[in-house]
Amino acid sequence: METERIKITVAIDGFSSSGKSTMARRLASAVGYRYIDSGAMYRAVALFGLDNGFVSSDGDVNADALVDALPRISIDFVPQPDGSQHTTINGVDVESQIRQLRVSNVVSLVAAIPAVRHRLVAMQQAFGVEKGIVMDGRDIGTTVFPDAELKIYVDASAETRAQRRFKELVEKGSAVTYEEVLANVVHRDHIDQTREESPLRKASDAISLDNSSMTLDEQDRWLIDQFERVVQSLEKA
Ligand code: CDP
Repeated sequence: METERIKITVAIDGFSSSGKSTMARRLASAVGYRYIDSGAMYRAVALFGLDNGFVSSDGDVNADALVDALPRISIDFVPQPDGSQHTTINGVDVESQIRQLRVSNVVSLVAAIPAVRHRLVAMQQAFGVEKGIVMDGRDIGTTVFPDAELKIYVDASAETRAQRRFKELVEKGSAVTYEEVLANVVHRDHIDQTREESPLRKASDAISLDNSSMTLDEQDRWLIDQFERVVQSLEKA
């Protein structure tokens, strides 16, 4: 009979559009872990802010009103028949809306509000209490799960990242230009790295990965190797 394997927490952080969500999702599915996209939670709050007049499309944020409204939103992830999951706000599927440039343009401003972060970090920690989770974001290895057994920090050049995101958006039918997407990537990098509350940083015990010239398969294999190394060393201990 197969024995239960030790369950760990996997934290994957990195710059916008660095491919961390794809890596995280594919690892979770390969090893039977839960995947949580922490960025989707910040995107959901940003969408809620836009739709309720707390955030304007040119970036004016009424932080107090948004923070007061937070207890009224419940964010969840609903599994889909194809194995993916869709983000919901109060039970309404907002998966495609949160990916649009309208949301990307304001999400980093919303994610810089300390009270927003405190609330979402607490929700993220609750998702991970039983381990067996892969979470991706900006502060997972530093703030959300500082004790994660496996931490990865992903990077790629801004141009490579913008190219990937542009292709994704065009495939989904968005009318965007490469220049707009690149400007958004560079802008979010700046806000994410310079905000006061848990800025994007590589945790001192994270493993760096530059995946600019890696195929998805190479990336998957690399990550599974890292995962096996950590789990096997814990199982031997
Ligand atoms: O997928 P992409 O790289 O475009 O970004 P995302 O993971 O969907 O996150 C959207 C935005 O949320 C980021 O640009 C950050 O400003 C913010 N975020 C954050 O501050 N902390 C996290 N743990 C995750 C996302």
